[in-house]
Amino acid sequence: MVYFEQFDERGAAVYDLLIKLRVFDWAYAVAAEAVEAVAPRGSKLLEIGAGAGKLAGILERRGYRVVGVDVSPAMLRRARKRTSADLIAGASWALPLRDEVFDVAVALFTLHHWGLHEPSARRVSSALKPGGKFVVIEADKDRVPLVVDHGCTAKCLEEALAPFFKVAVKRKFPLIIAEAERL
Ligand SMILES: C[S@@+](CC[C@H](N)C(=O)[O-])C[C@H]1O[C@@H](n2cnc3c(N)ncnc32)[C@H](O)[C@@H]1O
Repeated sequence: MVYFEQFDERGAAVYDLLIKLRVFDWAYAVAAEAVEAVAPRGSKLLEIGAGAGKLAGILERRGYRVVGVDVSPAMLRRARKRTSADLIAGASWALPLRDEVFDVAVALFTLHHWGLHEPSARRVSSALKPGGKFVVIEADKDRVPLVVDHGCTAKCLEEALAPFFKVAVKRKFPLIIAEAERL
């Protein structure tokens, strides 16, 4: 059985409040920059774990054609108020999408919720066009160990993505960024 962590109504309300308080604005700026480093504006972009829609909205305004996927109906309801990007209910390991459609995918603060990595990495890679990029951003557990299970080490990112992607790990404290290319 695949384990994952879903945000319920209460979790989604708290997350939405943190967004309104701009608590994660610095991380959204790093994530948008990391996407722009690998895919030009206008690219077709898939966001895995779009949450309450903040990053999807930023990328949409920058000209990306964004489809966001999330397992949490409570998060998706909030995201729909924040962005007009296409938002779909679904899980990373069973994306309800055609293969080889996207130029780039992004997942911010989401991979650590996935549970088993292999089925999700496989499915995201098949949603990308050959040579497509997957940008994964997490709290840097190598540099900030107190994030515990809410972050990733370089080893964790490499092992999660390696079967399907060529992975380059970058850092922007306190974040760790995997720039992965579909094999
Ligand atoms: C910490 S929130 C981050 C939301 C958003 N990326 C952000 O940074 O604002 C994690 C989100 O990932 C979603 N999620 C967790 N596991 C998932 C999976 N396997 N597939 C799709 N969404 C998932 C959760 O429902 C939640 O909305």
